[in-house]
Amino acid sequence: MQQLRQIADVYLADELDYHELKSATLVFKRYLQELTTLDLGNNVYRKDIHLTAGLAVATEWAVRCVDDLERTKRFIKGTAEAVREVLRRRHGPVQLLYAGTGPYATLVLPLLSVFNPQQLQLTLVEINDQSYRSILHIFAQPAFAPYLREIMQADASTLKLTEPEVYDILLSETMQNTLKREPQVAITVNLLQQLRSDALLVPQSIVVELAAMDIRYRAMIGVQEPIALGALMESSRQGLAEQISLNTAELTFPEVSLKISDEALESKYSLALTTEIHVFGTQYLRFNKSGLTIPDLILSPDDRTNKDLTFRARYELRPEPGIVWSIG
Ligand SMILES: C[S@@+](CC[C@H](N)C(=O)[O-])C[C@H]1O[C@@H](n2cnc3c(N)ncnc32)[C@H](O)[C@@H]1O
Repeated sequence: MQQLRQIADVYLADELDYHELKSATLVFKRYLQELTTLDLGNNVYRKDIHLTAGLAVATEWAVRCVDDLERTKRFIKGTAEAVREVLRRRHGPVQLLYAGTGPYATLVLPLLSVFNPQQLQLTLVEINDQSYRSILHIFAQPAFAPYLREIMQADASTLKLTEPEVYDILLSETMQNTLKREPQVAITVNLLQQLRSDALLVPQSIVVELAAMDIRYRAMIGVQEPIALGALMESSRQGLAEQISLNTAELTFPEVSLKISDEALESKYSLALTTEIHVFGTQYLRFNKSGLTIPDLILSPDDRTNKDLTFRARYELRPEPGIVWSIG
């Protein structure tokens, strides 16, 4: 636990020092590899699962998420802030439901060196067989077992909880940039339909926007500020209020229509989908800071036939989750 505490201290630091974060991530990965015995060269760890709600990534890709440095830091620190917020409201243990843990329960494991089992209890849900077995193995160990309420191998997008009222926090990172392909939205709606209305959500909100970006200099994408043209989808308690209240598995999302004038775009601008994540409390994953917030360029200036245009978009879960758009 002492080594985990040193790793946690870097993830929980207020300042983000990339050099320090990179070294701590290497130590964390070595620590995780020693905890389990995953033979990642084996093809069995590379089998994604295609659910009706989206793609559940195989163990090897889930392992690699740790390397998305700022993502991992913001999510761990944001989750710690959510736990502290519940502890400020009442005595522990805080009941945290973690949907899509991967093989290491990466986003909570360092926190077990910071909170004790009287403060934090975990319910872990994972669909992938190898990842599930790995967390079973980790949480059978004496240092981690006292934190465990339950481990379930289940599809979190359809799972019916037996005691939904006990949970204080829902944590899930089952997404790609622009909320495409993976089942983050379906999982969030399914579980928030069952949890108490004061249960906290991590990430607190994920917003996908249409933006104009100058892509003449591709290298500039990391440094330029996209010009926001309008929100297309928001995954948050508020943004999903209608779907949460409906209590149905058949989810539909409203169409968004944006009129964009030629002046607003200018000839050099491309259209892009951007993603911003408010993880929790003080923690945000801003534009292009992580694989989860890189832009998707969807239309180059040359492909824009109309000068003034109407952009229509709707988030759809099938055949694969994502923003479906058209231009008129
Ligand atoms: C992107 S990985 C993230 C792993 C880990 N939480 C992290 O942040 O490093 C997503 C994990 O969620 C699991 N997952 C995806 N959809 C799921 C579902 N519907 N029910 C349960 N687990 C799911 C995948 O199998 C994968 O292990």
